[in-house]
Amino acid sequence: MSSSSLFRTKKVEHSIEGTEHPEHRLKKSLSALDLTVFGVGVVIGTGIFVLTGAVAKETAGPATAIAFVIAGVVCALAALCYAEFASTVPVAGSAYTFSYTSLGELPAWIIGWDLVLEFALGTAVVAVGWSGYIRSLLENAGWTMPAVLSGRDGVEGFGFDLFAALLVLVLTAVLVVGMKLSARITSVVVAIKVGVVLLVIVAGAFFVKAENYRPFIPAPVPQEAGGGLHAPLIQLIFGFAPANFGVLGIFTAASVVFFAFIGFDVVATAAEETRNPQRDMPRGILGSLAICTTLYVLVSIVVTGMQHYTKLSVDAPLADAFKATGHPFFAGVISFGAAIGLTTVCMILLLGQTRVFFAMSRDGLLPRFFSHVHPRFKTPYRPTILLGVTIAVIAGFTRLSVLAELVNIGTLFAFVVVAISVVVLRRNRPDLPRAFRTPLVPLLPIVSVLASVWLMLNLPAETWVRFGVWMALGVVVYFAYSRRKSLLAPGRESEARAAAQSD
Ligand code: ALA
Repeated sequence: MSSSSLFRTKKVEHSIEGTEHPEHRLKKSLSALDLTVFGVGVVIGTGIFVLTGAVAKETAGPATAIAFVIAGVVCALAALCYAEFASTVPVAGSAYTFSYTSLGELPAWIIGWDLVLEFALGTAVVAVGWSGYIRSLLENAGWTMPAVLSGRDGVEGFGFDLFAALLVLVLTAVLVVGMKLSARITSVVVAIKVGVVLLVIVAGAFFVKAENYRPFIPAPVPQEAGGGLHAPLIQLIFGFAPANFGVLGIFTAASVVFFAFIGFDVVATAAEETRNPQRDMPRGILGSLAICTTLYVLVSIVVTGMQHYTKLSVDAPLADAFKATGHPFFAGVISFGAAIGLTTVCMILLLGQTRVFFAMSRDGLLPRFFSHVHPRFKTPYRPTILLGVTIAVIAGFTRLSVLAELVNIGTLFAFVVVAISVVVLRRNRPDLPRAFRTPLVPLLPIVSVLASVWLMLNLPAETWVRFGVWMALGVVVYFAYSRRKSLLAPGRESEARAAAQSD
């Protein structure tokens, strides 16, 4: 096996041409505004609506706002790298496609495999969060879901999250029917969700009490003995006694609330469906990120000001802060808006997921069976259905926290690869037109890599172990299947042409 074949690259022009065949072509219908709505639609979700409470209560107190800023800066650095790639290589597949054109096939496979983890588990996490809000609304109306159908959290023996699974299946059907329909639904839902977030900020500001901010950065509290693999890797490496709160707690919090930003990179996966990707991609990505960072910081400042962090709720912190200040009506509106808002998050993560899978199959790394678009709807319906059903099962049977941390480590890893790819592609293909150029290359990508690795190190050691197992499995699949079946494999070029003609 020659090592060069592991790093065979797909030509950028070839990647773009490959999308022009009618059987494999997606509709180009999205504008910069659609992309921004898409970005905000997926980014604001479980992170701000659910994780804020747990993180403030257990890890960072009012300084959770600082954690959001740190996570936002890490994402902004990555976004500047994503924007250059997305505007240079406007084909479906996001970081996967970008690395195929720059780093080579094996790195591209690794990143694609990693993105499958990010999007599939991310979809499952959000579906389970959605289900919790729906159950809470039903309880307000006096109807309680049987425990056995309420998910895995806190259940002994069999437990299945029926609502989470149903949500994923319904959204799968929506995506099969077509992008345009999904984008229209998305816009309405995004408006409701942003409205609810603004309601929290504006109405909540009236109930803020200065004493709730004291202490703004709570003193470190040692974790219970035996934390071991639960402790952030960085604390184990440097031999700190694992602790919550304090300055280190802010970084731990940042590595968790990072989940709240996941999704802006999904905007990049829709490049092939964008009318003018050269101009609109950077606008869509950076615009949605800027809006979300501002909202998150304001929401966390308001919520930790409304209730002392030690009293915040873990399940529905934004709504419960209003209940605690005696305003159940606002609480109801917020719960309702959150449940609606999480629907779009789930849908767009699912969309990003199917597009990556589609791109990998179009390159032959996954069975070509999955790369046919629907004759009428022009959507990649086969991977959409396969993945939708799989994720529905995962969402039904799995616990939240473990999944969220895995999603974070996978996404941060993708950021690292994208930042490296910017530098490599600048060197290997300086000739390519770049509608958006990352500033200060190579300094900015290097800082982006360091920042992402830093957040990764703040995740629990056990998350690293799980991530390592998933990635090792991916390498096995690559050598057992994808390497031989790749359309770039020796002798496969003619097969690829024949396959394309008979499609
Ligand atoms: N960023 C998305 C959320 O917070 C995934 O739910």
